[in-house]
Amino acid sequence: MLRRLYHDQPETFAFTPDNLKWAQAQMQKFPGGRQASAIIPILWRAQEQEGWLTRPAIEYVAAMLDLAYIRALEVASFYFMFQLQPVGAVAHIQVCGTLSCMICGAEDLIGVCKDKIADKPHTLSADGKFSWEEVECLGSCANAPMAQIGKDYYEDLTTERLAEIIDELAAGRVPAPGPQNGRFAAEPLKGLTSLRDYDSGKTKYNASAQLAVDIGDTVKRIDGTEVPLLTPWVKDGAAAKPKGKKPAAKKPVVGTGVTKQQAVAKPKAKPSSTISPSPVVESEPETLKAPRDGGADDLKKISGVGPKLEGVLNDLGFYHFDQIAKWTNAEIAWVDSRLKFKGRIERDDWIGQATALAKPS
Ligand code: FES
Repeated sequence: MLRRLYHDQPETFAFTPDNLKWAQAQMQKFPGGRQASAIIPILWRAQEQEGWLTRPAIEYVAAMLDLAYIRALEVASFYFMFQLQPVGAVAHIQVCGTLSCMICGAEDLIGVCKDKIADKPHTLSADGKFSWEEVECLGSCANAPMAQIGKDYYEDLTTERLAEIIDELAAGRVPAPGPQNGRFAAEPLKGLTSLRDYDSGKTKYNASAQLAVDIGDTVKRIDGTEVPLLTPWVKDGAAAKPKGKKPAAKKPVVGTGVTKQQAVAKPKAKPSSTISPSPVVESEPETLKAPRDGGADDLKKISGVGPKLEGVLNDLGFYHFDQIAKWTNAEIAWVDSRLKFKGRIERDDWIGQATALAKPS
């Protein structure tokens, strides 16, 4: 498959402060002059932040590692784990299409993805929430057919169950991963034939699925606010610690569906097969037909807003810093869903920036 950069790229990329600290800590793992060895984790973190690997992100990482851009592009385009085009804001579904899964119905699962998401792989659904692709064996052949969604495996799938999972994710809920047919792990369908006395202990799900349920999410992307930010090799430790932020997985729903997942769980209170329900709320902010007297503000002064995004904001009816400064969470969700590259409002703190810029000097 030809892997090339997406035709429509954002203008800029920058790590969030937390992700930058984490990336700089990765570089310290290697001897002087060998910092390029950190390229894969740092590219991965850039993908986690944006959802996919943009050209500005690849250039940014190349510059950070003092690498020729082509070297970083070679890595990004070689490994299939790097998504070179936009993926669904809620989830990118990777359906295994190798032997065991194919025998057990992978083609039908792909049919569900075609029906519910898009006819072609690597294509966004009409609402931008989902995308899909067929991948090679994911090593879960005893639980075929299966798909990776977010960080976790959904196994022993049927077409009906996959369709339900997509519907649940679209509604802001995160179904529990693991076998979907009642199996605990990969034991025989008719029950254990050996180790019959084995007691799984106190967990409802198998180890990896339980971890996802404990964390409270499965499709949430790492956004750098996790605590602790595991960089124990950093000398004083302080450089890599986030400042006073709680784990993102425990935060209330944000609603962008991009770098902060729409649904965050309280699994202990809801021991069902669904991790957490949460409605997506959008509300249209007050807009203007034209700039007020004195003309429009230069919205490009907001870091992360370039000429294209300024044009989009103007088309939506936003011309002034004070308009942006007043957006509520529901209004942010409304605007965010109308931007081509979602999640930037929060990541770049447009509200904070606009508030500062709106103040009379
Ligand atoms: S064949 Fe699908 S996980 Fe191995």
